[in-house]
Amino acid sequence: MKVIRHVKAMKEALANNKMKKIGFVPTMGYLHDGHLSLVDVARKENDLVVMSIFVNPLQFGPTEDLATYPRDEKHDTELAKKHGVDILFIPDVKEMYPDHFSIEMKLTTKTNVLCGKSRPGHFDGVITVLTKLFHIVEPTNAYFGLKDAQQFSVVDTLIHQLNFPIHLVGLPTVRERDGLAKSSRNVYLNDQERKDALVLYDTLKLGKQLVTDGTTVPSLKDELTKYLTRHCKGKVDYLEILSFPQLEEVHSIESTIIIAIAVHFDRARLIDNIILHADGTTVNRIG
Ligand code: PAJ
Repeated sequence: MKVIRHVKAMKEALANNKMKKIGFVPTMGYLHDGHLSLVDVARKENDLVVMSIFVNPLQFGPTEDLATYPRDEKHDTELAKKHGVDILFIPDVKEMYPDHFSIEMKLTTKTNVLCGKSRPGHFDGVITVLTKLFHIVEPTNAYFGLKDAQQFSVVDTLIHQLNFPIHLVGLPTVRERDGLAKSSRNVYLNDQERKDALVLYDTLKLGKQLVTDGTTVPSLKDELTKYLTRHCKGKVDYLEILSFPQLEEVHSIESTIIIAIAVHFDRARLIDNIILHADGTTVNRIG
């Protein structure tokens, strides 16, 4: 596995691989089984696997956890190598955003819901860094987790509207044995919060059951909000039921929907979701 820190060296390393299928997994590091599940699928479906690790300052708000975002480059490098990554791209901030960096990208759809609403500017930062990374890596296939379903939907828009010749793949959320979605930010939870955090997935499971039983949208929203507020010790940021991937309001369940939740604990804001077909079966892979 090659570890590369500069764009020029990336271009040189990739120059001889133009005919190969390149699978790309962008991350912010502190790797866990969720990230690695994307690598494992990319490994099976491509000739060359590229992973990036870059904690992107542009996607953090002024009061968010950029400075304390967990990092462990040595461990990440070992894990990436073990899972068959060919090229690990770890640029520093100056390499990605040199002093004269003077471009701002702005997403004008899908931003007034879910995390777009609670994290203004977040997805502008995400599309900016991904535009750069897509140009640097020029992948055939790009792999994203459906854990960050709004991000997946935004990347779909980015790829189509800016004509990137990239096939987008969304893969299922990897969970701890008790159901908590794996996240680099779970390390911020204390023991009690770690137990309380199970309420996110419990609420989503109840949602799946209700959709399977043929509930209506208003009663689904009502039941889930009641369950979440009764059992949640953290501060609920949102519980929303929207069409997927459009992320628009739904009045009845006739096609794919997402139930998405965000909860603030003391030092961590956790998100989770479930994407369901109209009959209540879970959507696992997209693309
Ligand atoms: P990061 O949070 O490190 O996540 C990298 C990728 O791993 C994303 O596609 C995310 O959806 C996926 N992922 C995280 N937890 C997962 C889980 N439990 N199961 C399955 N997949 C999971 O998302 C980002 O970084 C950044 O916004 C990035 C796209 C790299 C742009 O900076």
